[in-house]
Amino acid sequence: MSLNHTGFNTAPPAPPNVMIIFGAGGDLTKRKLIPSLYHLWSAGLLPESFVMLGLDRLDLDDEGFRSMMSEHLHETSGEAFKPEIWAQLEARIHYMKIDMLAGAEYEHLCENLSRIDAERSTEGNYLFYLAIPPSMFGTVTDHLGEVGLLHETEDDWRRLIIEKPFGRDLDSAIALNDDLHRNMDEEQIYRIDHYLGKETVQNIMVFRFANSFIEPLWNRNHIDHVQITVAESVGVEHRGAYYEEAGALRDMMPNHLLVLLGFLAMEPPNSFDAKAIRDEVNKVLDAIEPLTPEQVLTHAVRGQYDAGTMPNGEQVKAYRTSPGVKPNSHTETFAALKLTMDNWRWAGVPFYLRTGKRLTAQYTEVSIHFKKAPTIMFQDTDVDELEADMLVLRIQPNEGIQMSFGAKVPGPTMKIGTVNMDFCYEDYFGNKPATGYETLIYDCMKGDATLFKHADTVEKGWEIVQSVIDVWAALPPREFPNYAAGTWGPPAAGDMIKRDNRQWRRIETPKAHSRS
Ligand code: BG6
Repeated sequence: MSLNHTGFNTAPPAPPNVMIIFGAGGDLTKRKLIPSLYHLWSAGLLPESFVMLGLDRLDLDDEGFRSMMSEHLHETSGEAFKPEIWAQLEARIHYMKIDMLAGAEYEHLCENLSRIDAERSTEGNYLFYLAIPPSMFGTVTDHLGEVGLLHETEDDWRRLIIEKPFGRDLDSAIALNDDLHRNMDEEQIYRIDHYLGKETVQNIMVFRFANSFIEPLWNRNHIDHVQITVAESVGVEHRGAYYEEAGALRDMMPNHLLVLLGFLAMEPPNSFDAKAIRDEVNKVLDAIEPLTPEQVLTHAVRGQYDAGTMPNGEQVKAYRTSPGVKPNSHTETFAALKLTMDNWRWAGVPFYLRTGKRLTAQYTEVSIHFKKAPTIMFQDTDVDELEADMLVLRIQPNEGIQMSFGAKVPGPTMKIGTVNMDFCYEDYFGNKPATGYETLIYDCMKGDATLFKHADTVEKGWEIVQSVIDVWAALPPREFPNYAAGTWGPPAAGDMIKRDNRQWRRIETPKAHSRS
Protein backbone atom coordinates (compact mmCIF):
# COMPACT_ATOMS: atom_id res chain seq x y z
CA MET A 1 0.00 0.00 0.00
CA SER A 2 1.43 3.38 -0.99
CA LEU A 3 0.42 5.29 2.10
CA ASN A 4 3.19 7.75 2.09
CA HIS A 5 3.17 10.68 -0.26
CA THR A 6 6.93 10.72 -0.71
CA GLY A 7 7.08 6.93 -0.66
CA PHE A 8 4.70 6.84 -3.61
CA ASN A 9 7.17 8.80 -5.73
CA THR A 10 10.05 6.54 -4.93
CA ALA A 11 8.15 3.28 -5.29
CA PRO A 12 9.44 0.82 -7.94
CA PRO A 13 7.39 0.04 -11.08
CA ALA A 14 4.90 -2.82 -10.94
CA PRO A 15 6.01 -6.15 -12.47
CA PRO A 16 5.42 -6.82 -16.20
CA ASN A 17 1.75 -7.55 -16.90
CA VAL A 18 -1.24 -7.26 -19.20
CA MET A 19 -4.29 -5.47 -17.83
CA ILE A 20 -7.36 -6.82 -19.59
CA ILE A 21 -10.42 -4.59 -19.23
CA PHE A 22 -13.82 -6.19 -19.86
CA GLY A 23 -16.26 -3.44 -20.84
CA ALA A 24 -13.50 -1.16 -22.10
CA GLY A 25 -15.99 0.87 -24.17
CA GLY A 26 -17.84 1.95 -21.01
CA ASP A 27 -17.72 5.01 -18.84
CA LEU A 28 -15.42 3.69 -16.14
CA THR A 29 -12.55 2.98 -18.53
CA LYS A 30 -12.71 6.44 -20.02
CA ARG A 31 -13.31 8.38 -16.81
CA LYS A 32 -11.17 6.50 -14.30
CA LEU A 33 -9.05 3.66 -15.65
CA ILE A 34 -7.27 5.36 -18.56
CA PRO A 35 -6.55 8.55 -16.55
CA SER A 36 -5.22 6.37 -13.71
CA LEU A 37 -2.94 4.44 -16.07
CA TYR A 38 -1.78 7.76 -17.49
CA HIS A 39 -0.93 9.06 -14.00
CA LEU A 40 0.81 5.81 -13.10
CA TRP A 41 2.81 5.84 -16.31
CA SER A 42 3.81 9.49 -15.75
CA ALA A 43 4.98 8.60 -12.23
CA GLY A 44 7.08 5.70 -13.55
CA LEU A 45 4.99 3.15 -11.71
CA LEU A 46 4.04 0.99 -14.70
CA PRO A 47 6.65 -1.38 -16.09
CA GLU A 48 8.18 -1.03 -19.56
CA SER A 49 6.60 -4.41 -20.32
CA PHE A 50 3.03 -3.29 -19.82
CA VAL A 51 0.05 -3.76 -22.11
CA MET A 52 -3.57 -2.75 -21.64
CA LEU A 53 -5.98 -4.84 -23.69
CA GLY A 54 -9.50 -3.41 -23.91
CA LEU A 55 -12.36 -5.84 -24.61
CA ASP A 56 -15.85 -4.89 -25.73
CA ARG A 57 -18.48 -5.44 -28.40
CA LEU A 58 -17.79 -2.15 -30.19
CA ASP A 59 -16.48 -2.48 -33.72
CA LEU A 60 -13.13 -0.77 -33.24
CA ASP A 61 -9.48 -1.38 -34.02
CA ASP A 62 -6.49 -0.35 -31.90
CA GLU A 63 -6.35 3.07 -33.53
CA GLY A 64 -10.06 3.77 -33.06
CA PHE A 65 -9.96 2.74 -29.40
CA ARG A 66 -6.83 4.77 -28.70
CA SER A 67 -8.24 7.93 -30.21
CA MET A 68 -11.49 7.51 -28.26
CA MET A 69 -9.47 7.30 -25.05
CA SER A 70 -7.02 10.08 -25.83
CA GLU A 71 -9.80 12.49 -26.78
CA HIS A 72 -11.44 12.11 -23.39
CA LEU A 73 -8.16 12.22 -21.47
CA HIS A 74 -7.08 15.32 -23.32
CA GLU A 75 -10.40 17.02 -22.65
CA THR A 76 -10.47 16.25 -18.95
CA SER A 77 -6.83 16.82 -18.07
CA GLY A 78 -6.47 20.11 -19.96
CA GLU A 79 -2.98 21.54 -19.65
CA ALA A 80 -1.77 18.58 -17.59
CA PHE A 81 -2.03 16.41 -20.74
CA LYS A 82 1.45 15.72 -22.10
CA PRO A 83 1.31 14.32 -25.65
CA GLU A 84 4.77 12.72 -25.38
CA ILE A 85 3.75 10.79 -22.21
CA TRP A 86 0.47 9.70 -23.77
CA ALA A 87 2.29 8.52 -26.91
CA GLN A 88 4.38 6.12 -24.79
CA LEU A 89 1.34 4.72 -23.01
CA GLU A 90 -0.82 4.63 -26.14
CA ALA A 91 1.69 2.34 -27.85
CA ARG A 92 0.89 -0.19 -25.10
CA ILE A 93 -2.91 0.00 -25.51
CA HIS A 94 -4.74 -2.54 -27.68
CA TYR A 95 -8.33 -3.44 -28.37
CA MET A 96 -10.14 -6.68 -29.15
CA LYS A 97 -13.78 -7.00 -30.16
CA ILE A 98 -15.42 -9.83 -28.27
CA ASP A 99 -18.84 -11.11 -27.23
CA MET A 100 -18.03 -11.51 -23.54
CA LEU A 101 -20.85 -14.00 -22.96
CA ALA A 102 -19.79 -16.37 -25.78
CA GLY A 103 -17.43 -19.07 -24.47
CA ALA A 104 -16.00 -19.85 -27.93
CA GLU A 105 -14.46 -16.39 -28.19
CA TYR A 106 -12.21 -16.93 -25.19
CA GLU A 107 -9.91 -19.16 -27.26
CA HIS A 108 -9.08 -16.06 -29.34
CA LEU A 109 -8.44 -14.14 -26.15
CA CYS A 110 -5.95 -16.85 -25.09
CA GLU A 111 -4.16 -16.68 -28.44
CA ASN A 112 -4.04 -12.92 -28.30
CA LEU A 113 -2.58 -12.93 -24.78
CA SER A 114 0.07 -15.53 -25.67
CA ARG A 115 1.09 -13.39 -28.65
CA ILE A 116 1.31 -10.28 -26.44
CA ASP A 117 3.43 -12.19 -23.90
CA ALA A 118 5.81 -13.30 -26.64
CA GLU A 119 6.09 -9.89 -28.30
CA ARG A 120 5.98 -7.61 -25.25
CA SER A 121 7.63 -9.72 -22.51
CA THR A 122 4.60 -9.44 -20.22
CA GLU A 123 5.52 -12.81 -18.66
CA GLY A 124 2.01 -14.29 -18.51
CA ASN A 125 0.88 -11.99 -15.65
CA TYR A 126 -2.75 -10.99 -16.22
CA LEU A 127 -4.91 -8.50 -14.36
CA PHE A 128 -8.55 -8.91 -15.43
CA TYR A 129 -10.67 -5.86 -14.68
CA LEU A 130 -14.42 -6.48 -14.86
CA ALA A 131 -15.93 -3.09 -15.73
CA ILE A 132 -19.21 -4.83 -16.56
CA PRO A 133 -22.55 -5.37 -14.76
CA PRO A 134 -22.32 -7.83 -11.83
CA SER A 135 -24.89 -10.07 -13.52
CA MET A 136 -22.12 -10.96 -16.03
CA PHE A 137 -19.39 -11.75 -13.46
CA GLY A 138 -20.30 -15.44 -13.10
CA THR A 139 -20.41 -16.18 -16.85
CA VAL A 140 -17.25 -14.23 -17.67
CA THR A 141 -15.21 -15.86 -14.89
CA ASP A 142 -16.57 -19.30 -15.90
CA HIS A 143 -15.34 -18.71 -19.46
CA LEU A 144 -11.96 -17.44 -18.24
CA GLY A 145 -11.71 -20.52 -16.03
CA GLU A 146 -12.67 -22.91 -18.88
CA VAL A 147 -9.75 -21.77 -21.05
CA GLY A 148 -7.29 -21.82 -18.14
CA LEU A 149 -6.75 -18.07 -17.95
CA LEU A 150 -7.34 -17.99 -14.20
CA HIS A 151 -4.79 -20.70 -13.52
CA GLU A 152 -1.66 -19.38 -11.78
CA THR A 153 1.72 -21.05 -11.78
CA GLU A 154 4.85 -20.29 -9.78
CA ASP A 155 6.02 -18.06 -12.63
CA ASP A 156 2.94 -16.02 -13.37
CA TRP A 157 -0.05 -14.51 -11.60
CA ARG A 158 -3.71 -14.09 -12.54
CA ARG A 159 -5.79 -11.51 -10.66
CA LEU A 160 -9.28 -10.15 -11.02
CA ILE A 161 -10.62 -6.73 -10.01
CA ILE A 162 -14.34 -6.19 -9.52
CA GLU A 163 -16.38 -3.27 -8.28
CA LYS A 164 -19.48 -2.90 -6.16
CA PRO A 165 -22.35 -3.65 -6.00
CA PHE A 166 -21.23 -6.92 -4.39
CA GLY A 167 -24.79 -8.23 -4.26
CA ARG A 168 -27.89 -6.44 -2.97
CA ASP A 169 -28.26 -8.25 0.35
CA LEU A 170 -26.49 -10.94 2.35
CA ASP A 171 -27.80 -13.90 0.31
CA SER A 172 -26.93 -12.44 -3.08
CA ALA A 173 -23.46 -11.40 -1.81
CA ILE A 174 -22.82 -14.99 -0.71
CA ALA A 175 -24.05 -16.28 -4.10
CA LEU A 176 -21.75 -13.85 -5.92
CA ASN A 177 -18.77 -14.92 -3.83
CA ASP A 178 -19.62 -18.56 -4.60
CA ASP A 179 -19.70 -17.75 -8.33
CA LEU A 180 -16.24 -16.22 -8.13
CA HIS A 181 -14.76 -18.94 -5.94
CA ARG A 182 -15.84 -21.59 -8.50
CA ASN A 183 -12.98 -20.49 -10.70
CA MET A 184 -10.37 -18.88 -8.51
CA ASP A 185 -8.98 -18.57 -5.01
CA GLU A 186 -9.98 -15.70 -2.75
CA GLU A 187 -6.37 -14.38 -2.95
CA GLN A 188 -6.82 -13.76 -6.69
CA ILE A 189 -9.91 -11.56 -6.19
CA TYR A 190 -9.51 -7.81 -5.61
CA ARG A 191 -12.83 -6.15 -4.69
CA ILE A 192 -12.64 -2.39 -5.05
CA ASP A 193 -14.33 -0.03 -2.65
CA HIS A 194 -13.13 3.27 -4.05
CA TYR A 195 -13.27 4.85 -0.58
CA LEU A 196 -10.25 2.72 0.27
CA GLY A 197 -8.40 4.45 -2.58
CA LYS A 198 -8.92 7.89 -1.05
CA GLU A 199 -5.76 9.27 0.56
CA THR A 200 -7.71 10.84 3.41
CA VAL A 201 -9.40 7.54 4.25
CA GLN A 202 -6.02 5.79 4.36
CA ASN A 203 -4.79 8.69 6.47
CA ILE A 204 -7.24 7.79 9.23
CA MET A 205 -4.98 4.85 10.01
CA VAL A 206 -1.81 6.91 9.78
CA PHE A 207 -3.26 9.69 11.93
CA ARG A 208 -4.27 7.18 14.58
CA PHE A 209 -1.29 4.87 14.59
CA ALA A 210 1.70 7.00 13.57
CA ASN A 211 1.05 9.60 16.26
CA SER A 212 1.31 8.83 19.93
CA PHE A 213 -0.83 11.66 21.29
CA ILE A 214 -4.14 10.56 19.81
CA GLU A 215 -4.42 6.87 20.64
CA PRO A 216 -4.73 7.23 24.45
CA LEU A 217 -7.84 9.38 23.91
CA TRP A 218 -9.40 7.13 21.28
CA ASN A 219 -11.89 5.22 23.37
CA ARG A 220 -15.07 5.29 25.43
CA ASN A 221 -13.36 7.09 28.33
CA HIS A 222 -12.85 10.25 26.30
CA ILE A 223 -15.12 10.07 23.27
CA ASP A 224 -18.81 10.84 23.65
CA HIS A 225 -19.90 9.90 20.14
CA VAL A 226 -18.81 9.83 16.50
CA GLN A 227 -20.60 11.16 13.41
CA ILE A 228 -19.91 10.04 9.86
CA THR A 229 -21.45 12.15 7.09
CA VAL A 230 -21.26 11.40 3.39
CA ALA A 231 -23.39 14.14 1.89
CA GLU A 232 -23.93 14.59 -1.82
CA SER A 233 -25.46 17.61 -3.46
CA VAL A 234 -25.84 15.73 -6.74
CA GLY A 235 -28.96 13.73 -7.54
CA VAL A 236 -29.04 10.32 -9.19
CA GLU A 237 -28.15 11.80 -12.59
CA HIS A 238 -28.24 9.16 -15.34
CA ARG A 239 -28.21 6.25 -12.85
CA GLY A 240 -31.93 6.21 -12.00
CA ALA A 241 -32.47 2.60 -13.06
CA TYR A 242 -29.60 1.29 -10.91
CA TYR A 243 -30.46 3.54 -7.99
CA GLU A 244 -34.13 2.52 -7.97
CA GLU A 245 -32.99 -1.01 -7.14
CA ALA A 246 -30.28 0.07 -4.72
CA GLY A 247 -31.27 3.14 -2.68
CA ALA A 248 -29.02 5.09 -0.32
CA LEU A 249 -28.70 2.33 2.26
CA ARG A 250 -27.41 -0.39 -0.10
CA ASP A 251 -25.47 2.05 -2.26
CA MET A 252 -23.41 3.57 0.56
CA MET A 253 -23.76 2.03 4.04
CA PRO A 254 -22.46 -1.56 3.91
CA ASN A 255 -19.49 -0.39 1.87
CA HIS A 256 -18.22 3.21 1.99
CA LEU A 257 -19.53 4.27 5.41
CA LEU A 258 -18.51 1.01 7.05
CA VAL A 259 -15.02 1.39 5.55
CA LEU A 260 -14.75 4.70 7.39
CA LEU A 261 -16.16 3.21 10.57
CA GLY A 262 -13.81 0.22 10.36
CA PHE A 263 -10.68 2.40 10.12
CA LEU A 264 -11.92 4.70 12.88
CA ALA A 265 -12.76 1.98 15.34
CA MET A 266 -10.18 -0.75 14.69
CA GLU A 267 -7.49 -1.83 17.14
CA PRO A 268 -3.90 -1.19 16.03
CA PRO A 269 -2.96 -3.99 13.61
CA ASN A 270 0.42 -5.68 14.04
CA SER A 271 1.52 -4.43 10.63
CA PHE A 272 0.26 -2.79 7.45
CA ASP A 273 -0.12 -6.24 6.01
CA ALA A 274 -3.46 -6.88 4.23
CA LYS A 275 -4.47 -9.75 6.48
CA ALA A 276 -3.57 -7.95 9.72
CA ILE A 277 -5.65 -4.91 8.74
CA ARG A 278 -8.55 -6.96 7.43
CA ASP A 279 -8.69 -9.00 10.62
CA GLU A 280 -8.91 -5.86 12.74
CA VAL A 281 -11.60 -4.31 10.52
CA ASN A 282 -13.57 -7.54 10.64
CA LYS A 283 -13.39 -7.53 14.45
CA VAL A 284 -14.98 -4.08 14.42
CA LEU A 285 -17.75 -5.27 12.08
CA ASP A 286 -18.30 -8.30 14.30
CA ALA A 287 -18.61 -6.06 17.36
CA ILE A 288 -21.34 -3.88 15.81
CA GLU A 289 -24.58 -4.79 17.52
CA PRO A 290 -27.15 -5.83 14.92
CA LEU A 291 -30.35 -3.79 15.09
CA THR A 292 -33.42 -5.72 16.14
CA PRO A 293 -36.56 -5.08 14.05
CA GLU A 294 -37.87 -2.83 16.86
CA GLN A 295 -34.61 -0.88 16.97
CA VAL A 296 -34.77 -0.32 13.21
CA LEU A 297 -37.81 1.87 13.89
CA THR A 298 -35.82 4.20 16.15
CA HIS A 299 -32.17 3.75 15.07
CA ALA A 300 -32.64 3.99 11.29
CA VAL A 301 -34.16 6.81 9.25
CA ARG A 302 -34.87 6.94 5.55
CA GLY A 303 -35.78 9.80 3.29
CA GLN A 304 -36.45 10.72 -0.32
CA TYR A 305 -35.90 14.16 -1.80
CA ASP A 306 -38.58 16.33 -3.21
CA ALA A 307 -38.09 19.30 -5.52
CA GLY A 308 -36.13 22.11 -3.90
CA THR A 309 -33.58 24.88 -4.24
CA MET A 310 -29.88 24.16 -3.88
CA PRO A 311 -27.68 26.70 -2.03
CA ASN A 312 -26.43 28.03 -5.38
CA GLY A 313 -30.00 28.91 -6.32
CA GLU A 314 -30.45 26.00 -8.71
CA GLN A 315 -34.01 24.69 -8.74
CA VAL A 316 -33.98 20.90 -8.84
CA LYS A 317 -36.73 18.40 -9.40
CA ALA A 318 -37.95 15.63 -7.14
CA TYR A 319 -36.23 12.20 -7.21
CA ARG A 320 -39.46 10.66 -8.51
CA THR A 321 -39.17 12.65 -11.75
CA SER A 322 -35.65 11.39 -12.55
CA PRO A 323 -35.24 9.23 -15.68
CA GLY A 324 -35.57 5.52 -14.86
CA VAL A 325 -37.38 6.21 -11.56
CA LYS A 326 -41.00 5.21 -10.84
CA PRO A 327 -43.38 8.14 -10.23
CA ASN A 328 -44.45 6.54 -6.92
CA SER A 329 -40.99 5.22 -6.02
CA HIS A 330 -40.34 4.05 -2.45
CA THR A 331 -36.57 4.07 -2.90
CA GLU A 332 -34.73 6.06 -0.26
CA THR A 333 -32.22 8.73 -1.28
CA PHE A 334 -31.21 9.37 2.34
CA ALA A 335 -30.33 6.97 5.14
CA ALA A 336 -29.15 7.52 8.70
CA LEU A 337 -28.21 4.86 11.24
CA LYS A 338 -27.20 4.79 14.87
CA LEU A 339 -24.83 1.91 15.51
CA THR A 340 -23.16 0.78 18.70
CA MET A 341 -20.37 -1.67 19.38
CA ASP A 342 -20.09 -4.30 22.00
CA ASN A 343 -16.40 -4.21 22.76
CA TRP A 344 -14.03 -2.88 25.41
CA ARG A 345 -12.99 0.24 23.51
CA TRP A 346 -16.36 1.45 22.23
CA ALA A 347 -19.14 0.12 24.51
CA GLY A 348 -21.69 2.89 25.02
CA VAL A 349 -20.29 5.20 22.29
CA PRO A 350 -22.85 5.70 19.52
CA PHE A 351 -21.71 6.05 15.92
CA TYR A 352 -24.22 8.12 13.91
CA LEU A 353 -23.98 7.59 10.15
CA ARG A 354 -25.82 9.59 7.49
CA THR A 355 -25.69 9.79 3.73
CA GLY A 356 -27.95 11.19 1.07
CA LYS A 357 -28.38 12.73 -2.34
CA ARG A 358 -29.38 16.32 -3.03
CA LEU A 359 -28.29 17.49 0.39
CA THR A 360 -27.03 21.00 1.09
CA ALA A 361 -23.39 20.25 0.31
CA GLN A 362 -21.06 17.76 -1.37
CA TYR A 363 -19.11 16.87 1.71
CA THR A 364 -17.65 13.83 3.47
CA GLU A 365 -16.34 14.04 6.99
CA VAL A 366 -15.96 12.24 10.27
CA SER A 367 -16.38 14.18 13.50
CA ILE A 368 -15.20 12.83 16.82
CA HIS A 369 -17.02 14.49 19.70
CA PHE A 370 -15.09 14.31 22.95
CA LYS A 371 -16.67 14.29 26.39
CA LYS A 372 -17.03 17.65 28.07
CA ALA A 373 -14.53 18.67 30.73
CA PRO A 374 -16.00 19.25 34.22
CA THR A 375 -16.83 22.91 34.89
CA ILE A 376 -15.93 22.78 38.59
CA MET A 377 -12.82 24.98 38.42
CA PHE A 378 -14.72 27.70 36.57
CA GLN A 379 -17.54 27.91 39.11
CA ASP A 380 -16.77 31.43 40.30
CA THR A 381 -16.32 32.81 36.77
CA ASP A 382 -18.59 33.83 33.89
CA VAL A 383 -18.24 30.36 32.42
CA ASP A 384 -21.24 28.17 33.11
CA GLU A 385 -20.93 25.60 30.35
CA LEU A 386 -18.01 24.27 28.37
CA GLU A 387 -18.28 23.20 24.76
CA ALA A 388 -17.09 19.69 24.00
CA ASP A 389 -13.85 19.41 22.05
CA MET A 390 -14.15 18.04 18.56
CA LEU A 391 -11.88 16.57 15.96
CA VAL A 392 -13.01 16.68 12.35
CA LEU A 393 -11.41 14.52 9.67
CA ARG A 394 -12.35 16.08 6.34
CA ILE A 395 -12.35 13.34 3.75
CA GLN A 396 -13.45 15.51 0.80
CA PRO A 397 -13.30 18.23 -0.41
CA ASN A 398 -10.67 20.51 1.16
CA GLU A 399 -9.07 17.41 2.71
CA GLY A 400 -7.69 18.02 6.14
CA ILE A 401 -7.99 17.71 9.89
CA GLN A 402 -9.51 20.26 12.23
CA MET A 403 -9.40 20.37 16.00
CA SER A 404 -11.88 22.56 17.88
CA PHE A 405 -11.22 23.36 21.51
CA GLY A 406 -11.80 26.01 24.16
CA ALA A 407 -9.54 29.06 24.58
CA LYS A 408 -9.77 32.13 26.79
CA VAL A 409 -11.40 35.09 25.13
CA PRO A 410 -8.99 38.00 25.78
CA GLY A 411 -10.31 40.40 28.39
CA PRO A 412 -10.59 41.00 32.11
CA THR A 413 -13.24 38.35 32.74
CA MET A 414 -12.98 34.58 32.31
CA LYS A 415 -14.80 33.74 29.10
CA ILE A 416 -14.10 30.73 26.92
CA GLY A 417 -14.56 30.62 23.17
CA THR A 418 -14.23 27.75 20.73
CA VAL A 419 -11.25 28.01 18.39
CA ASN A 420 -10.06 25.85 15.51
CA MET A 421 -6.69 24.44 14.57
CA ASP A 422 -6.77 23.49 10.95
CA PHE A 423 -4.48 21.36 8.78
CA CYS A 424 -5.09 21.28 5.01
CA TYR A 425 -3.48 18.63 2.89
CA GLU A 426 -2.98 20.93 -0.03
CA ASP A 427 -0.82 23.34 1.99
CA TYR A 428 1.66 20.61 2.79
CA PHE A 429 1.50 18.19 -0.07
CA GLY A 430 0.18 20.23 -3.01
CA ASN A 431 -2.55 19.05 -5.28
CA LYS A 432 -1.73 16.07 -7.51
CA PRO A 433 -4.17 14.99 -10.21
CA ALA A 434 -5.55 11.60 -9.21
CA THR A 435 -8.69 9.57 -9.73
CA GLY A 436 -8.31 7.51 -6.54
CA TYR A 437 -7.82 4.36 -8.64
CA GLU A 438 -4.06 4.76 -9.11
CA THR A 439 -3.05 3.25 -5.79
CA LEU A 440 -5.57 0.45 -6.16
CA ILE A 441 -4.44 -0.60 -9.64
CA TYR A 442 -0.78 -0.35 -8.70
CA ASP A 443 -1.30 -2.33 -5.49
CA CYS A 444 -3.16 -5.06 -7.34
CA MET A 445 -0.31 -5.36 -9.87
CA LYS A 446 2.07 -5.78 -6.93
CA GLY A 447 -0.20 -8.31 -5.23
CA ASP A 448 -0.91 -6.06 -2.24
CA ALA A 449 -4.54 -6.62 -1.17
CA THR A 450 -4.50 -4.28 1.84
CA LEU A 451 -6.92 -1.80 0.28
CA PHE A 452 -9.29 -4.38 -1.18
CA LYS A 453 -12.23 -6.14 0.37
CA HIS A 454 -12.19 -9.75 1.28
CA ALA A 455 -15.31 -11.92 0.82
CA ASP A 456 -15.99 -12.05 4.56
CA THR A 457 -15.75 -8.25 4.96
CA VAL A 458 -18.35 -7.83 2.22
CA GLU A 459 -20.65 -10.37 3.84
CA LYS A 460 -20.25 -8.81 7.30
CA GLY A 461 -21.19 -5.40 5.84
CA TRP A 462 -24.46 -6.85 4.54
CA GLU A 463 -25.14 -8.64 7.82
CA ILE A 464 -25.05 -5.30 9.64
CA VAL A 465 -27.68 -3.67 7.42
CA GLN A 466 -29.79 -6.76 6.69
CA SER A 467 -32.37 -6.09 9.44
CA VAL A 468 -32.83 -2.54 8.14
CA ILE A 469 -33.31 -3.86 4.58
CA ASP A 470 -35.89 -6.36 5.85
CA VAL A 471 -37.89 -3.97 8.00
CA TRP A 472 -37.90 -1.24 5.37
CA ALA A 473 -39.07 -3.74 2.74
CA ALA A 474 -41.86 -4.96 5.01
CA LEU A 475 -43.02 -1.45 5.94
CA PRO A 476 -43.06 0.76 2.87
CA PRO A 477 -42.50 4.44 3.70
CA ARG A 478 -45.69 6.45 4.10
CA GLU A 479 -44.42 9.99 3.79
CA PHE A 480 -42.08 9.99 0.79
CA PRO A 481 -40.87 12.42 -0.42
CA ASN A 482 -39.98 13.76 3.02
CA TYR A 483 -37.18 16.28 2.50
CA ALA A 484 -36.64 19.12 0.09
CA ALA A 485 -33.59 19.06 -2.16
CA GLY A 486 -30.97 21.44 -0.77
CA THR A 487 -31.62 20.62 2.90
CA TRP A 488 -29.86 18.24 5.33
CA GLY A 489 -32.42 15.44 4.95
CA PRO A 490 -35.66 14.48 6.69
CA PRO A 491 -36.48 15.97 10.12
CA ALA A 492 -36.66 12.42 11.50
CA ALA A 493 -32.85 12.17 11.19
CA GLY A 494 -32.52 15.16 13.50
CA ASP A 495 -35.08 13.64 15.88
CA MET A 496 -33.13 10.37 16.02
CA ILE A 497 -29.99 12.05 17.37
CA LYS A 498 -31.93 14.59 19.49
CA ARG A 499 -33.48 11.73 21.46
CA ASP A 500 -29.93 11.11 22.75
CA ASN A 501 -29.53 14.82 23.61
CA ARG A 502 -27.10 15.31 20.78
CA GLN A 503 -27.29 16.98 17.39
CA TRP A 504 -25.79 16.55 13.97
CA ARG A 505 -22.76 18.71 13.50
CA ARG A 506 -23.67 21.81 11.58
CA ILE A 507 -21.56 21.60 8.47
CA GLU A 508 -20.98 24.93 6.79
CA THR A 509 -21.11 24.75 3.04
CA PRO A 510 -17.37 24.40 2.38
CA LYS A 511 -15.70 27.47 0.97
CA ALA A 512 -12.85 27.18 -1.49
CA HIS A 513 -9.69 26.84 0.56
CA SER A 514 -7.45 29.85 0.24
CA ARG A 515 -3.73 29.38 0.72
CA SER A 516 -2.07 32.21 2.54
C1 BG6 B 1 -20.63 5.27 -5.38
C2 BG6 B 1 -22.14 5.32 -5.31
O1 BG6 B 1 -20.17 4.03 -4.94
O2 BG6 B 1 -20.10 6.29 -4.56
C3 BG6 B 1 -22.63 6.68 -5.78
O3 BG6 B 1 -22.69 4.31 -6.14
C4 BG6 B 1 -21.97 7.78 -4.98
O4 BG6 B 1 -24.04 6.78 -5.68
C5 BG6 B 1 -20.45 7.60 -4.96
O5 BG6 B 1 -22.28 9.01 -5.61
C6 BG6 B 1 -19.82 8.57 -3.98
O6 BG6 B 1 -18.43 8.55 -4.15
P1 BG6 B 1 -17.54 9.83 -3.88
O7 BG6 B 1 -16.16 9.38 -4.14
O8 BG6 B 1 -18.02 10.89 -4.83
O9 BG6 B 1 -17.81 10.20 -2.46
